[in-house]
Amino acid sequence: MRRTRLPIVVVGSGVAGMATALAAAPAPVRLLCRAPDGSGSASALAQGGIAAALGTGDSAEAHVRDTLEAGACHNDAAAVRWLCEAAPATVAWLEAQGVVFDRGPDGGLQLGREGGHGAFRIVHAGGDATGAALVRALRAKVQAAPHVQWRGGVDAEALLLRDGRVVGVRVRDARGRQDVIEAAAVVLATGGIGALYAHTSNPPGADGAGLALAMAAGAAARDLEFVQFHPTALAVAGHSLPLLTEALRGAGARLVDGAGEPLMRDLHPLGDLAPRDVVARRVWQARQQGGSAWLDATPVEGDWHDRFPTVLAACLAHGLDPRREPLPITPVAHFHMGGVATGLDGRSSLPGLYAVGEAACNGVHGANRLASNSLLEAVAGGRRLGAALAAAAPVAGQGTHRWSERGASLPRENLPALRELLWRAAGPVRDGVALREAWRVCAATADTGWQMRLAKALLRAMRLRRRSLGAHCREDRGCPM
Ligand code: SIN
Repeated sequence: MRRTRLPIVVVGSGVAGMATALAAAPAPVRLLCRAPDGSGSASALAQGGIAAALGTGDSAEAHVRDTLEAGACHNDAAAVRWLCEAAPATVAWLEAQGVVFDRGPDGGLQLGREGGHGAFRIVHAGGDATGAALVRALRAKVQAAPHVQWRGGVDAEALLLRDGRVVGVRVRDARGRQDVIEAAAVVLATGGIGALYAHTSNPPGADGAGLALAMAAGAAARDLEFVQFHPTALAVAGHSLPLLTEALRGAGARLVDGAGEPLMRDLHPLGDLAPRDVVARRVWQARQQGGSAWLDATPVEGDWHDRFPTVLAACLAHGLDPRREPLPITPVAHFHMGGVATGLDGRSSLPGLYAVGEAACNGVHGANRLASNSLLEAVAGGRRLGAALAAAAPVAGQGTHRWSERGASLPRENLPALRELLWRAAGPVRDGVALREAWRVCAATADTGWQMRLAKALLRAMRLRRRSLGAHCREDRGCPM
């Protein structure tokens, strides 16, 4: 086994991991990711933009209010204030890294509006391809940065501890070769858990591996029950489904049932632009009752190639033309508000272990994330954490080492059953009996793979939160449908 030592290891190469690595300069950083070429992060698929109070008459205060309202006030108010105040500088920093945001005819940043926002405050890059634009720009910076060493094609499978402190990580490549990297700081930027569900907008790698690694080592987790479901993914066969961005509804697309009748009629004053969880539950209900749900985007005007190139390409790839026909939709697991419990500086409850982006829960998103706050938080949080780590003193010490293993993975053929179990019991609409039964299945098979143990922990949190709150809807306890 090869052993190396350097100050900082970042696991995960989405925008949170890359922003952390860049901001840590000049401290040497090893950036690890599962895909050999660094692809496969959820960031690259993000169709929403970045929320920032940049418009005339808008303010960080108003952004704070909307974030708290979306989060059902389960958020940490101080964390929300920090995020909203950091947003304009985050956009400026991204521009300095080479991200080209969409601009209007007057040359000013084009500000869009999405569900839950009381103002036009979302900046996009390449229409619905903001995530991909950020990944491209930050990757170019990371590849050119002398202090960052990139290593793809490895999975982090164990944490090294000394005297209760995380001091390294062990990785394994596709051929089973293991390496140990000792570090003063190990940062988990491994994304969310959407891929544990039967239907998700996330890539297959968003399976909670980092969260499971942290929990196995005894790090505290928080808010695990809060999973956001996006109401409009293209209902085609498969596991990771193409998203149909909420911005389409902002541009005139309509939700209809199988008979072409408005799906949201009389359900919410904001109609098709009702909060994401409300729409997701309605779409879920329509499909559970044997009906179907559709997004009619034919009223959307303008050039689809400029405004919605990602959606257009995904639909055409499935033989559907959104400009001419309604699109079949399903809700999908989209974003985990919970994760490794951290403060705003990314510090977990285990010294030496940090988490950032969707893998972390610092309280900013509360019980339901506001649209376009996630790329923002990933970048702002990564920059904050990287700068703090760059300034940190090296850790000395000579205690006994021990390994904390995440444990073997569930056999590949068993994954679909687990995903279906979570989809049914832990989806947009939950009830106590189904949660208990699903928890029992996971508890009885917890030794078959770390995914089962993680699912058990998620289900436990869902059972313990008996009242509906935000994205956690308990049908047996008064969930607003
Ligand atoms: C969307 O574009 O509908 C998703 C945006 C987000 O998740 O913030």
